[in-house]
Amino acid sequence: MGKKLKLGVLVSGKGSNLQNIMDNCQAGKVDATVEVVISDLPDAFALERARKAGIPALAFRRKDFASKEDFDQAILTALQEHRVELIVLAGYLRILTEVLVKPYEGRIMNIHPSLVPTFCGKGMHGLEVHRAALKYGVKITGVTVHFVELSVDTGPIILQRAVPVMDGDTPEILSDRVLEQEHEIYSEAIQLFAQGRLKVEGRWVRILEK
Ligand code: GRF
Repeated sequence: MGKKLKLGVLVSGKGSNLQNIMDNCQAGKVDATVEVVISDLPDAFALERARKAGIPALAFRRKDFASKEDFDQAILTALQEHRVELIVLAGYLRILTEVLVKPYEGRIMNIHPSLVPTFCGKGMHGLEVHRAALKYGVKITGVTVHFVELSVDTGPIILQRAVPVMDGDTPEILSDRVLEQEHEIYSEAIQLFAQGRLKVEGRWVRILEK
């Protein structure tokens, strides 16, 4: 068996994506290990999931640091201590500063619950995304996994999947349907990275054959 990719997962919420990634790593479906889980919210349920799986779970509170950069530096140090090779943002609500983005350039992924570039950008997260999609009246929404740059939700797109919007959908119902696809697509993207099959050419991410 080859060397496994070391993941550091950043979370702020319930952590269903984290759970799925941990399970798929454990089951050998993704050639990676979750080395550390870090949250900006000490009571995020995601941290409990990590602890339950025996994975180091850390919390850093923004208010304990003088600046966003100092806060990110503490996270960077923790990630480096755990020899993290790929940062996975899974419902992490803070915008990363250069302090994290520079040393991990091309090695940070995010998942967004819409077809980027629709219903994304600053302030668009959680149920807000689905509320906006329903308000607009789109018939199709979806999921996007992308590499992270300094600006929000604009990095090169790795994978996308469409999800239909149905009559009578509420933001909650739509969110559940989208989340099912998130769980599939995020592990798929991480596995492609672990296999060295993602090649970024400008805005285009090419998926190399095995
Ligand atoms: C997901 O919808 C993800 O796309 C978004 O935040 C949500 C996190 O859900 N970035 P969970 O905490 O993984 O359950």
